[in-house]
Amino acid sequence: MLDSVELRKKYLEFFKSKGHAVIPSASLIPENDPTVLFTTAGMQPLVPYLLGQKHPAGKRLTDVQKCIRTGDIDDVGDDTHCTFFEMLGNWSLGDYFKNESIAWSYEFLTSVLGILAEKLAVTVFEGDADCPRDEFSAKRWREMGISPDRIFYLPKANNWWIAGQTGPCGEDTEIFIVDESKPGNSPADDGGRFVEIWNNVFMHFYKHPDGSLTELKQKNVDTGMGLERTLAMLNGYKSVYETDVLKPVADYLRSLTEVKDAAAERAVRIITDHTRTATFILGDPRGVSPSNVDRGYILRRLIRRAVRYARLLGLGADVLTVCADKYIGIYGDFYTELKDNRERIMTELDAETQKFDKTLQQGLKEFEKLLGYIKDNRISGKAAFRLYDTYGFPPEMTVELSAEHGVSVDMEGFERAFNEHQLKSKAGAEQKFKGGLADSGEQTTRLHTATHLLMEALRRELKDPTIMQKGSNITPERLRLDFNFPRPLTAEEIAAVENAVNAVIAAKVDVTCEEMTPEAAHAAGAVGVFGDRYGEIVKVYTIGDYSKEICGGPHAANTSELGKFRIVKEQSSSAGVRRIKAVLE
Ligand code: SER
Repeated sequence: MLDSVELRKKYLEFFKSKGHAVIPSASLIPENDPTVLFTTAGMQPLVPYLLGQKHPAGKRLTDVQKCIRTGDIDDVGDDTHCTFFEMLGNWSLGDYFKNESIAWSYEFLTSVLGILAEKLAVTVFEGDADCPRDEFSAKRWREMGISPDRIFYLPKANNWWIAGQTGPCGEDTEIFIVDESKPGNSPADDGGRFVEIWNNVFMHFYKHPDGSLTELKQKNVDTGMGLERTLAMLNGYKSVYETDVLKPVADYLRSLTEVKDAAAERAVRIITDHTRTATFILGDPRGVSPSNVDRGYILRRLIRRAVRYARLLGLGADVLTVCADKYIGIYGDFYTELKDNRERIMTELDAETQKFDKTLQQGLKEFEKLLGYIKDNRISGKAAFRLYDTYGFPPEMTVELSAEHGVSVDMEGFERAFNEHQLKSKAGAEQKFKGGLADSGEQTTRLHTATHLLMEALRRELKDPTIMQKGSNITPERLRLDFNFPRPLTAEEIAAVENAVNAVIAAKVDVTCEEMTPEAAHAAGAVGVFGDRYGEIVKVYTIGDYSKEICGGPHAANTSELGKFRIVKEQSSSAGVRRIKAVLE
């Protein structure tokens, strides 16, 4: 029997013995990347270093990273999907490559974890016009003792890894444990025979918005192993809910209610999963509170969904705080931030559950009534908006409830009702704050749009498409933009960038906004470092044919509103990152 504490320890110690520096998990809330809501992989906080910036801890790193992926939220309740998970990872930043990476993965699995070589299978990239067949990795696996019939060559769809649509990427080799009792011929089949536990990505390309690939300055290795899944496999558990990190909470819920069917077990798992994710978001050093936008909204959805499932099981909403308390106990020694932020976790979780619990029952009654008089098995956008506005039902929950009754929801109608409401309250707010506040709001809006123009001008004038926003801060007086670039800009370059921005302003170009999935945004060529490929809707702001960027807004409607753009300062921000301050006059 191996538990989570031992697995983390064994992993980090093993890679430490191979010269890796152990670094702490980064925040769940990305610091340098406004385009993703949460950290979804161990490599995400390391992107600047994969692109060549020097990491203070060296070229070999290892960690256990907290991750959130909400794209699969509908699958939560099955044996393997979780919205929060821990990823064990090791990295080479331009140091070792395939040879060592494969040998160490093999050594860790067989010698440290004691998995028999016969239980393993691997996949390697079969090759295409972009990148040759990965014979090197296949050969290395054979040398390790993996039998040739357990080495599968698969295409890009399986053996190529990138976070989102653009960014560092490359072929990978994935490692599976074979479950002989299950059907399947190859890891590409979904018979359950091959359970993926580890992914070694050989990141040596950069994918640009136009789809083209260029070689990175350095060859990197990025590996990721799912902690919960590996624990389940090693211990022969059927589901991740039997592992020591989840079982105490699932068992606690089971002890309160009779789990009489699969639906009840699913409800138990959903509460177990969602309260864990909520605990980690609230307990993060950069933690956020439940709200109606972005991360706060995801948090709110998770908490409210858990409350609803608790009620379905006949449990009080207060079970959520008991679950959170258990998680602080389970994880607090490794993720000490949970202990430090205990007060905040408990207070916020309690407030949000109470708030929703008050309106949930009434909202459900309203929903039942609705079912009685809907037309064409469809709930109107207005009705869905009323459930949202009056009873706090996240629209996703209304969709889920409706689906349980074989009913659909007019989501476009919901959006329309939502936007009308926003406009009305915005008009109200503008009335109220006429003068000072509204004015400064307009100025920051203009500076926000100017920041997009500046980003694009930098990429174009410095002829470096890898330039990305590393940070942004806007006050009514000025904008401040941090971006990756290895050296100071020359006076000529600064002038060229200013001129380029002013040319777009002079051209009086319209600024438009569309909402779409991150995939569609990147396919449309929108800038955004490494979009969350796991769902959520992003806003894409387009400025004529000059700039297309994923952003929350708000923005000016036309560049003619901006005035004259001037760079007031260009300086170093941190290693490999420059900072520009600019004004509109
Ligand atoms: N980035 C890869 C993944 O998420 C390996 O760490 O699977």
